[in-house]
Amino acid sequence: MSIKPLVSFSGVVYRNAIKKVLFKFDPEDVHVRMMRAAEFMGKLSIVKQAFRPVFCSNNPILSSEYFGIRFRSPIGLAAGFDYEAKLPHILPDLGFGFGTVGTLTNLPYEGNTKPRLGRLPGSKSLMVNKGFKNLGVEATLKKYKGKKFSYPVGVSIGKTNTEAIVEQREAVRDILEAFQKAESSGVPFAYYELNISCPNLKGNVEFYEPAHLDELLRSVATLGIQRPVWIKMPISKSNEEIRAMMDVIVRFSFIKAVILGNLQRDRNHPALLPHEVEKFDRGNFSGMPCKDRSDELIRLAYREYGTRIKVVGCGGVFSAEDAYRKIRLGASLVQLVTGLIFEGPQLVAEINNNLPQHLQKDGFTSLSEAVGTLQ
Ligand SMILES: Cc1cc2nc3c(=O)[nH]c(=O)nc-3n(C[C@H](O)[C@H](O)[C@H](O)COP(=O)(O)O)c2cc1C
Repeated sequence: MSIKPLVSFSGVVYRNAIKKVLFKFDPEDVHVRMMRAAEFMGKLSIVKQAFRPVFCSNNPILSSEYFGIRFRSPIGLAAGFDYEAKLPHILPDLGFGFGTVGTLTNLPYEGNTKPRLGRLPGSKSLMVNKGFKNLGVEATLKKYKGKKFSYPVGVSIGKTNTEAIVEQREAVRDILEAFQKAESSGVPFAYYELNISCPNLKGNVEFYEPAHLDELLRSVATLGIQRPVWIKMPISKSNEEIRAMMDVIVRFSFIKAVILGNLQRDRNHPALLPHEVEKFDRGNFSGMPCKDRSDELIRLAYREYGTRIKVVGCGGVFSAEDAYRKIRLGASLVQLVTGLIFEGPQLVAEINNNLPQHLQKDGFTSLSEAVGTLQ
């Protein structure tokens, strides 16, 4: 018997009942409670065994291998959702092909002043003003020392959010220390993300200038990291600025992918309803306002740099159609966050269930065949 209807049913229940209740409460409180519940469920093998046949597709057409890592599904959790590493033992059983922890920083940070998270339901977006709230690399990773993961886990690294770091040199040193701590953690994670595009940080250090980016990557290269490093890119930059950054990035062989991309900074973006944006005097926006620009940049990166580096698509994925479009534009893998809040935790299983039909309809026999076919 097919269990796909159970996934669809979970989606109906989430969208029509659970979401309505959750959206009545403070978004950050809801997030914290949900993460605790999910962490608890990840410790119960009976729950995982019950989830697995319902939410995991195991369809070979969805599997792929890049940089020596096997991905059972191309859909993964983007950075920012699991900044305390509570989910690595539950997400694989919900159908996720990989998942990123963090962004983590060298030193802990208690988060920007509230509100740190807001909902814009009509715009299908979240206001994000966390500024890398996290416990620090060491404290976050230590619970996984020597443990195994059942899917590829990534660790996102960024600059500590502090006014004390004002110079490029100090920022680079801080990031290097974060990498060193992760390297010596003894945790068998699969890949790194280097987040150079968080829009809510104190201090004025940025790595968008090619010379600054070059200095950062040269320094990271000296660490001789063996795990693949992906760079989390901004989307609120011009094509020329992105090209200038890409020209630097592709010179470093340890950088295996770029993620396109991070949050939308433009408060006047047409996807944002003005009366929803006005409720927040700060922050940046996820979800729908990221979608088109992410798509454009995936296409640009694939077309101009696709023979030298992989592209990971991220921004405004709410359905299998969104994921499939990103893949055909050039994304080898796809990440999401906001879709989970608006569509429900079964979203990845829904995408996994529907992607094969899209691939087969267009005559592809594997996922990687479809990558970049819509230029
Ligand atoms: C609540 C929240 C926190 C985020 N924090 C981070 C972060 O710490 N590091 C990072 O690289 N991206 C962070 N992001 C950006 C997401 O990883 C992603 O790039 C962006 O939200 C677009 O994807 P989406 O539309 O699927 O949410 C955050 C996003 C959200 C919604």
